[in-house]
Amino acid sequence: MAAAQSSRFQFTPDLGICRVLNGMWQVSGAHGAIDPGRAVEAMFRYHEAGFTTWDLADHYGPAEQLIGAFRRQFAGRLDSERLGEIQAFTKWVPPPGPMTRRNVEEAIGVSLKRMGVERLDLLQFHWWDYRHPGYLDALRHLADLRQEGRIRHLGLTNFDTERLAIILEHGIPIVSNQVQYSLVDRRPEAKMAVFCQAHGITLLAYGTLLGGLLSEKYLGHAEPGRGELNTASLQKYTRMIAAWGGWGLFQELLAALKAVADKHGASIATIGARYVLDRPAVAGVIIGARLGIAEHLADNARVFDFALEAEDLAAIEPVLAKSRDLMRLIGDCGDEYR
Ligand SMILES: NC(=O)c1ccc[n+]([C@@H]2O[C@H](COP(=O)([O-])OP(=O)(O)OC[C@H]3O[C@@H](n4cnc5c(N)ncnc54)[C@H](OP(=O)(O)O)[C@@H]3O)[C@@H](O)[C@H]2O)c1
Repeated sequence: MAAAQSSRFQFTPDLGICRVLNGMWQVSGAHGAIDPGRAVEAMFRYHEAGFTTWDLADHYGPAEQLIGAFRRQFAGRLDSERLGEIQAFTKWVPPPGPMTRRNVEEAIGVSLKRMGVERLDLLQFHWWDYRHPGYLDALRHLADLRQEGRIRHLGLTNFDTERLAIILEHGIPIVSNQVQYSLVDRRPEAKMAVFCQAHGITLLAYGTLLGGLLSEKYLGHAEPGRGELNTASLQKYTRMIAAWGGWGLFQELLAALKAVADKHGASIATIGARYVLDRPAVAGVIIGARLGIAEHLADNARVFDFALEAEDLAAIEPVLAKSRDLMRLIGDCGDEYR
């Protein structure tokens, strides 16, 4: 099984990616116990199916080490010349504090070592508290490390439009912002996407499948109780659904999506992913992968096989129109973290 050519996207002039990225928060331990051996075997299957791009973070449990192990075994079994086929996008999520060159360099050094690379493909920076101005210091040092060749590209995660503008005004070269973006959380459409398009920045979307809630499994399903929400991701997005309009409205959305999915011979999840992939400024959607526990490779590859039509969007839109305005309720992208 090889993903269609339309799965590829020229993320930067020197870096092509798969538009469905494999999300590694799911190996952190908060989504079920991960066996490293089985996880690396699964990574080979993802890669062979065309899902060559990984999204991870310094704090996602063993995610960076798994990339390191995968790369070592990949070089051994296949060819080290082919290591360039793998794209691994990590994050740095420091606690707010003084951001000296030394602190920043040390943190990046840890990721480089764990992942077994000389240069990070993309370093996505997160900052918890805008009242602490250290984020600009950190980004200046990261930009220097990029100049020195330790980082290929600089990205952000969960930054709002206002701070993204400030960062660009400081001359820091940003290629992407990773934000929550789904049929339920469409806040990026309000300001972020337009700003990004105007500045040549792309969005990487997470939460697109709402931790798996956006699927047949939950169609006609009573609101899951706490015992059933057995991953951190399911817990996170049930809260988002509650804020958006509640389980009843979510059932209406699933029913509308099911009709569209049946028409295309696809699944509810792939309709949700296709919807976000088609939005302005979106480079890719990140779909969480519980490596070695559960796999949806063939289904997720289907997202590249069909196009949503005007009548599909017309069937979904009236349900979305009934939801609350999350921009007003929560704020711009990332404000849920602050
Ligand atoms: N920057 C940030 O602050 C941030 C925050 C959250 C996430 N992320 C990134 O985004 C990634 C995605 O995480 P997420 O929490 O947003 O989860 P998600 O991608 O919305 O949901 C992942 C879950 O969806 C299910 N799934 C996948 N494909 C499916 C399909 N075709 N049909 C039905 N179900 C399917 C799987 O459930 P099962 O395993 O149960 O089958 C999987 O574990 C993370 O790994 C991380 O890389 C970033």
